[in-house]
Parts: sequence; structure tokens; C-alpha cells
Amino acid sequence: MTIKKVLVTGGAGFIGSHLVDVLLEEGYHVYILDDFSSGNLRNLKRWNSGDDFSDYGDMYKYGYGKRPKHKLIEWDISKPLISSPWLGSLEEGELDCIFHLAARRNVMTSFKEPYDDTMRNYIGTVNVLELARKIKCNKVVLSSSYTIYKDLDQSCITEDCRKEPISPYGLNKLASEKLLQLYNNHYGMRNVAFRIFVPYGPRQVPGSIFSGVVMRFLDHARKDEEVTIYGDGEQTRDFIFVKDIARCLHAGFTRDLEGVFNLGTGRETSINGLLDAVRSVTGKELKANYKDSRKGEVRRSVADMTRLMEQMDCEGATTLEEGLKETYGWLTRKKR
Ligand SMILES: NC(=O)c1ccc[n+]([C@@H]2O[C@H](COP(=O)([O-])OP(=O)(O)OC[C@H]3O[C@@H](n4cnc5c(N)ncnc54)[C@H](O)[C@@H]3O)[C@@H](O)[C@H]2O)c1
Repeated sequence: MTIKKVLVTGGAGFIGSHLVDVLLEEGYHVYILDDFSSGNLRNLKRWNSGDDFSDYGDMYKYGYGKRPKHKLIEWDISKPLISSPWLGSLEEGELDCIFHLAARRNVMTSFKEPYDDTMRNYIGTVNVLELARKIKCNKVVLSSSYTIYKDLDQSCITEDCRKEPISPYGLNKLASEKLLQLYNNHYGMRNVAFRIFVPYGPRQVPGSIFSGVVMRFLDHARKDEEVTIYGDGEQTRDFIFVKDIARCLHAGFTRDLEGVFNLGTGRETSINGLLDAVRSVTGKELKANYKDSRKGEVRRSVADMTRLMEQMDCEGATTLEEGLKETYGWLTRKKR
């Protein structure tokens, strides 16, 4: 059997590193491209010999991981990939798939720095697709986002719901999806985009204003601190465990999916419900301080998962309790 070779952009990040885990476990040769702006080598440490990367230095610049099955390429996705010393020398047919996750995923920052957001999140996609076209790789799997939807307050968001992003970040994701489709139509590629809902899990960075609500609650529980809830806490979200995301992104390639798919759980959890679940999993009292709701905050948000479930078996997905338990275990073991 020929070994599949794939490139993962953003592979040192939160979601990307879990995808790298799946791919290496499945026996792929994995090339990981990252600029380490928010990603971290520590996320890939199980694939290297030790925990300490401080003395690896230049070996990682355009270099090679210690294990033969993965290579690490430090590169800024907003620069043409074909100019990179290593990617530029790839030959036709050398990659079977490109998983494109490199991005700056912050909505607020995208308002402050729309140029940077566009370079990373849209021009980055142009560069990935151009590399794919040049080396005749007909599959790009893109991590898009539910922030492209307009009618988020609907009980169930299908892929056909109105798209009208309200941030430069969402706009660049939507433009990236459309570009994938254009390359499908024009060059006969079979690209696929997943609109990821609200991810959580090990390796999500805690303690930042940008951390997701799940990680914030778990981190507060760990430190016996009070949590802040804006509004009455009955607003809902669709929380999906990061390892389930990684499995679905992989299936985008193995099942040769094409087009766009929601990637959530189809389960709606209120913030109060999340609080109860975190209390139960951590055994902590976790007091909540309710403040006025934030302007423009979405009341309900849950993915309609019909389209993806028609293509693959989503049975066995991680329950919220299982996911919280695993994430809390990671957080409490984590070296600080
Ligand atoms: N976390 C979320 O809430 C969420 C939700 C929906 C979609 N997504 C999408 O999933 C993907 C992964 O997000 P994440 O949560 O793992 O974030 P992350 O910040 O942990 O990962 C992004 C990775 O991309 C790398 N990167 C950023 N700019 C780069 C550049 N110019 N060149 C090369 N690498 C660069 C970062 O160093 C990082 O390793 C992103 O495309 C994001 O838009 C995330």
C-alpha cells in the first residue's frame, strides 16, 4: 500500500495538532507548516523524543522533525508557498491532500487589523490552492467557521442558511470557501470546507480573553475562581470536542467529500447547562457572577448536522461530559 503524503497548515495549533495526531496514527507522512504565531511546538511533543524543544533551534527552520514520518516547515502562509525552499521543490503528485487550518482566528482582532486578517485568512487560502494546482493535488480540506452565517439565532443552522459575515474574519472565511468552489469548478478539484462551530479540548489556550467559554470555565474551576456570565445564561452554543473535529477533517479526505459541511454536534447547550456540567465533572462549587448581556450577543446557535451525517457515521462522538473530563484532566496535568 502506498503511504499517503499530506500537508497540514497550522499544524502546531490547537485543532491542527490533533489532526496531525490522527494522521500520524493512521500512518501518513505529514508535512506541517506553521509560523508559530499562535501555535506551539509543545502541541506536537508526543511525536518527538523529548518535552524540551528549546535546543532544537534552526533544525526546525525549514527542517525535519526527529521522526521520519513528519517534517516541520516554518513559513508564513501569506507568502506564496511555491517560494518556500521545500514546498517549492515538491513534484507533481507528491501530496495527496492539503489540510488548510493556518489562520488567525480572532474575530475582534480582525476588526483592528483587517489587512493582516485578509493576508493570513484569505491570501493564505489563495497560496494553498495555487500550490495544490501546481503540484496537481486535487484535494484541499479547509477549516471554515460558523461565523459566516447571518441567521445565527435560528434553532438549527443548515448549510443553506443566509451567509452574511459580520466581521472581516467571517468574510475572509466565506471568500476562502468560495475560492475553493471556484477551483473545483474551474480546475476539477474536489475541495471541501467544514464550518466548525465552537471547539473545545486539550491544547486550547486557557487564561486568555480569547479562550473559549469551556476552557475559561474549566480554568476558573481549577483555580477555585468565580466565573462571569453575561445575560441570563440561557444563550446556547454547539460545543464540539476537538478530537471529533480532527476525525471529521480526516474523513473529508478519506471519504472524498466535496462542497461545504457544518461541523458541530447538533446539540444545543446553554451556558448555564455548561456551568452545571463543569461543576459536576470537576466537583467544584464554581460560583457564577451574572452581568448585563453583551450587545449583539447571539441567543441561540446550533448546527444542523444532516448533510454530514448523510455522508458519514457520526455515532460514537464524544459527549460533553466525556470531553470536559478529558479536557480538565489535561488542564490539571499541564505544566504551568
Ligand atoms: N477555535 C475556534 O473557535 C475555531 C472555530 C471555527 C473555526 N476555526 C478554524 O480552525 C482553524 C484552527 O484554529 P485553532 O482554533 O486551532 O487556532 P490556532 O490559533 O491554535 O491555530 C492556528 C494555527 O495557524 C498558525 N498560523 C497563523 N497564522 C499563520 C501564518 N501566517 N502562516 C502560517 N501559520 C500561521 C498558528 O501559529 C497556529 O498554529 C483556523 O482556520 C480557524 O479559523 C477555529
